[in-house]
Amino acid sequence: MARVTIEPLGKTAEVPDGALTILEAGEKAGVDMEFGCRDCTCGTCVVEVVQGMENLSPLTDQEIDVLDTWNRDPEKIRLACCVKVMKGEVVVRKLDA
Ligand code: FES
Repeated sequence: MARVTIEPLGKTAEVPDGALTILEAGEKAGVDMEFGCRDCTCGTCVVEVVQGMENLSPLTDQEIDVLDTWNRDPEKIRLACCVKVMKGEVVVRKLDA
């Protein structure tokens, strides 16, 4: 199981490795996650990865394009609806909070 914590709320969910996106894990933790398309195209669901970038699924060309459109650094910011939690400990920060 992987573990996802959503800051600044400090809410956590345990999720099976590779099964859920950050967005879905956040919802499982009871967090009101921001989203628009849920399909890696709008950029509404951006989160800052505080810890565990290596435990997330790799960037896709589509995700890079969307992050680039909004001038977001893909080394720190990911699209919560596109990225699966693969393993271990992940901490993200909601940018709208
Ligand atoms: S909700 Fe649109 S990119 Fe994630």
